[in-house]
Amino acid sequence: MYKILLVLAITVVAMAGCKEKPGKGEPGANLLDSRCGRCHPMGVKKAHTTKEEWRQTVARMMGKGAVLNEGEKDVVVDFLVKYYHP
Ligand code: HEC
Repeated sequence: MYKILLVLAITVVAMAGCKEKPGKGEPGANLLDSRCGRCHPMGVKKAHTTKEEWRQTVARMMGKGAVLNEGEKDVVVDFLVKYYHP
C-alpha cells in the first residue's frame, strides 16, 4: 500500500513538472501560484518591462484582493521582473 502511494505521489509531482512555468521552484513562483493564481489560473501573462511597472501592477492587484505582505511583495515583483517581460 505504501509503495502504491509513493508511486502515485511521484507521478503527480512529475506531471506537475510538465507545465513548464518559468522560474519553477523559486519562492516567487510559489507566491505567484498561491496568491495570484486564484484569479489568474493560466498564469500571469508576460506584461511589463520595468520594476516600477510591476510594482504598480502588483499594488493594484493587492487592491483587488491579492494577499502579500511587504516582504512577499518584493519577492513577487523581483520574480516578475526577472521572468515576465515582453
Ligand atoms: C482578486 C483577483 C486577483 C488577484 C488575486 C490578482 N489579480 Fe491580476 N488581475 C485581476 C483582474 C480582474 C484583472 C483585469 C483587470 C485589470 O487589469 O485591472 C487583472 C489583471 C492583471 C494583469 C494585466 C494588467 C496589467 O496591468 O498588465 C496582470 C499582469 C496581473 N493582473 C498580475 C497579477 C499578479 C502578479 C498578481 C499577484 C500579485 C495578481 N494579478 C493577483 C484580478 C486579480
